[in-house]
Amino acid sequence: MSERIRQLLSEEEVNRRICQIGEQISRDYEGKSVHMICVLKGGVFFTCELAKRVTVPVSLDFMSVSSYGNDTSSSGVVRIVKDLDEPIEGKDVLIVEDIIDSGRTLSYLIEILKQRHPASIHLCTLLDKPERRVKDVKVDYVCFNIPDEFVVGYGLDYAQKYRNLPYIGVVEF
Ligand code: IMP
Ligand code: MG
Repeated sequence: MSERIRQLLSEEEVNRRICQIGEQISRDYEGKSVHMICVLKGGVFFTCELAKRVTVPVSLDFMSVSSYGNDTSSSGVVRIVKDLDEPIEGKDVLIVEDIIDSGRTLSYLIEILKQRHPASIHLCTLLDKPERRVKDVKVDYVCFNIPDEFVVGYGLDYAQKYRNLPYIGVVEF
């Protein structure tokens, strides 16, 4: 099957918005450090760009959970593929995600991370598809709300392709 990519958000728009969110996070965490947890693989481009815009001290860790195969709809099954390297007890944790869709992945992740007693836990996402929500999740920082369409680029993939696109595009099948 071949697909085409239609640009939804340009590289400039995305980068500008990440700068704004970075400034907001820097203000909100003033006097503290932020421990960013990047949700692999999709969150990696966003995490790097965001971390560069945050002016308070930042530490990074990575986690990989799986809820999708090479499909475009959620299976509802979430498992930890790679756990964090460091304990998060007492840390001000900021989960950095590429996209929140049904909310299943994040509601599961937040529950398990809360059990490790961070000082605080907040959520930042590049994209949100609020119409698709099945599980209620509180999202503290959203760069863009987008309609219910399957998107790629800036870390997001379709069957592991297109993560490296510097913009966000809609997949047209
Ligand atoms: P959720 O558990 O349904 O919220 O799904 C979250 C995960 O599904 C995201 O972290 C992505 O990996 C993947 N996902 C959801 N929507 C899209 C999309 O439009 N493009 C690419 N991946 C998506
Ligand atoms: Mg993801």
